[in-house]
Amino acid sequence: MPRQVPPPEIPPNIASLRPYSPGKPIAEVEREFGLTDIIKLASNENALGPSPAAIDAIKAHAGDVHMYPDGGCHDLRQALALHLGVNPAELTFGNGSDEIIHLLGLAFLRPGDQVIQGDPTFSRYESAVTLGEGECIKVPLREWRYDLEAIAAAVSPRTRIVFIANPNNPTGSYVTHAEVERLLERLPDGCVLCLDEAYYEYVDAPDYPDSVRFVQARANVVALRTFSKLYGLAGLRVGYGMSRPEIIRAIEQVREPFNVNHLAQAAAVAALSDRQHASLSRSMVAQGRQQLSDGLGALGLIVWPSQANFVWVDVLRPAKQVFDALLRQGIIVRTGDAFGADTFLRITIGTKDQNARLLDTMQKVLYP
Ligand SMILES: Cc1ncc(COP(=O)(O)O)c(C=O)c1O
Repeated sequence: MPRQVPPPEIPPNIASLRPYSPGKPIAEVEREFGLTDIIKLASNENALGPSPAAIDAIKAHAGDVHMYPDGGCHDLRQALALHLGVNPAELTFGNGSDEIIHLLGLAFLRPGDQVIQGDPTFSRYESAVTLGEGECIKVPLREWRYDLEAIAAAVSPRTRIVFIANPNNPTGSYVTHAEVERLLERLPDGCVLCLDEAYYEYVDAPDYPDSVRFVQARANVVALRTFSKLYGLAGLRVGYGMSRPEIIRAIEQVREPFNVNHLAQAAAVAALSDRQHASLSRSMVAQGRQQLSDGLGALGLIVWPSQANFVWVDVLRPAKQVFDALLRQGIIVRTGDAFGADTFLRITIGTKDQNARLLDTMQKVLYP
């Protein structure tokens, strides 16, 4: 008889991690409800899909996948550096910007360090802190915006990272260049400010921060962006960080050598070069934001101003009921309960037709 051994002990910080709860996949709704023609407005993806140039690049590179990818992302690094007007050494790439959030925790946190974030916000910051055995300080949003004054007041000598999602997920709100500048003046030496700009391409506010300028002027700023949203490559997982070379080097020290796959790199280079698709995607979101804000407002709901490719809507009744009713009609959105906002929905902006269907269905659901 083999000796009975107890299962290995899981460290408390690992055991306390909450799994990420993604938007409901289309296939699951098809199976559950026997529906077809489902639209998913739940995960802030690009309703236009990827650029045709990215699809061609994936096909062209499919025969090379027996080889390891370029661990340094050379071609993507050069193309992106040129596009952004930064030095190639100021960039790092991740398996989605999710991975870079994780790597920031690995690179900078020691047990007991403090990290500050808004609340509610993107959940991956807290996971990175928990993994790094840090303490996550959650500063409530004010009117659904990051409150940088309150964040500055919460900073202590133990603060190692401040995360700002800008625009914020799930609220779509943004903070200005001047607000970020004031916060930076109040951060202690050695504290990293991470500006998570996953939705930055959709922003049209003129006072939105110029994060490239912050990165180049300061030794402690990291800006994160992604190919998952505007560039429609969420399924391939490629995001990037911009910072001064010293911070980039620390991140590179903790990453896996081949963290961005071959097809993702090729597709990202191609997507970046397709300015027409990027511009179409941006204008679809700008028009859709208006369409949804007007339409949902006309139904008596409260739509908060958004600079992202989704809207944050108070449906003024338990949002789970509205979510379920929409789901039965083949429309997947996100409820706000995961963010502590039980009467809210987060709705991704779709194509004009998808938005119209959402509005039409919402009307039937709310006023049967
Ligand atoms: C604020 C924010 N940051 C980062 C991400 C991660 O993006 P990705 O890992 O796909 O690059 C998301 C995704 O939804 C997000 O909302």
